[in-house]
Amino acid sequence: MTAPIATSTLAVNGGTPAVTTRIPRRHRWGANELGALEQMVKQETLLYWQAPQTEALLAEFREIYPLAHCMPCSSGSAALHIAVAALKLEPGSEVIVPAITDMGSVIGILYQQLVPVFADVQADSVNLDPVDVRARITAKTRAIMPVHLAGCPCDMAELMAIAQEHDLHVIEDCAQAWGARWQGELVGLQGDFGCYSFNDYKHLSCGDGGMVGTNNDRLGDGLSKWGDKHYDRVSGGRNPLTLSPNYRITEPQSAVAWAQLKRHDDWIEPRVKLGRKLRQGLADIPGIMMQPEKPGNSHSYWFIMLRLIPSCWRASRAEIVAALKAEGVAGDAGYLPSPVYGYPAFRNHDFFAGRWPLREAGLTTMDYGEVCCPEAEAVLADCMTLVWHEAVPEAYVDETIVAFHKVFAAFGADK
Ligand SMILES: Cc1ncc(COP(=O)(O)O)c(C=O)c1O
Repeated sequence: MTAPIATSTLAVNGGTPAVTTRIPRRHRWGANELGALEQMVKQETLLYWQAPQTEALLAEFREIYPLAHCMPCSSGSAALHIAVAALKLEPGSEVIVPAITDMGSVIGILYQQLVPVFADVQADSVNLDPVDVRARITAKTRAIMPVHLAGCPCDMAELMAIAQEHDLHVIEDCAQAWGARWQGELVGLQGDFGCYSFNDYKHLSCGDGGMVGTNNDRLGDGLSKWGDKHYDRVSGGRNPLTLSPNYRITEPQSAVAWAQLKRHDDWIEPRVKLGRKLRQGLADIPGIMMQPEKPGNSHSYWFIMLRLIPSCWRASRAEIVAALKAEGVAGDAGYLPSPVYGYPAFRNHDFFAGRWPLREAGLTTMDYGEVCCPEAEAVLADCMTLVWHEAVPEAYVDETIVAFHKVFAAFGADK
């Protein structure tokens, strides 16, 4: 199917674009959301505690993600902060995180006066590399935060083994990985905590929202306090034992998040089906590396992360991506501007009005200017991301596969 078009003139040089099917607008909210919101406006209060929408959200979430202790909250960042805070770690303790992730993974760590230690990623999965995690463990390491990037499950067997060996907690950042499975089990159920995001960009969304859950009774007991000013809603006591932010979800968010969860599989399955089709269609192009989908695992394709292996091309990433865009492919070069340790806040250690009191107090010697994760830097220099969601038409995927073949035929390095 690809042969005749693959050798035709590139659209960037005036040829006919390979992709003519457009990705339609998504219809993400409908009757279920409206129904829940209509019920909600009849309520006397929109506070989350034991309120109908939030209770329904919790029940639906637990049906899918069997986590005994959960706190629905205002964002994925809040969920991660609550999990980190609930560990009650000594200031200066270290939490290992991947160098490629969202700021939301590290914000709570810094606010709890802890130290994010960046570890490198694997070349193929772009997730935490267990080999580098081992190398970064010190006497102060207390936790690891695997981030299932773009919906690709981390190597949880290795990471959990390391955690067990070194007595470390594991907080799974599942913000990008609704519906992803590690060895058949949904992500977030292996570590001490699973943390999820309902922000506007995610598979499921209520605008902004989050969920943190655990099956560990010790960590889960009183979990809600860590996101609710440390007030004890169970006893009604307002006598906080310690400091906690207000990360409460609200009833309107819960109503929409509940309706979204009701259709959990509807959001995931089309992405997976088409993601696998794309994977198959690109498999014979040596210049392209997709995140793997290992046997037993299920990638949930929040977006498509592709590496354009420089040695296999005789054009720059900018030229390749420009050619693909001219063919009609919806995507862009790069992902983050740099690994997280390269952001100005980290380079300047500017976490609290230009200062990092933790370091000034001698509780860490971390210098983010000296951190280097070579694979993360290489990924960000050669990757591209493709727009992906449940409404992407199958014809668009077929045409995208043709576009990649066409561009590789023009720009691929001679063997
Ligand atoms: C990997 C990862 N972790 C955490 C977050 C934070 O989630 P939220 O935006 O809901 O705070 C995000 C959001 O983009 C994310 O992608």
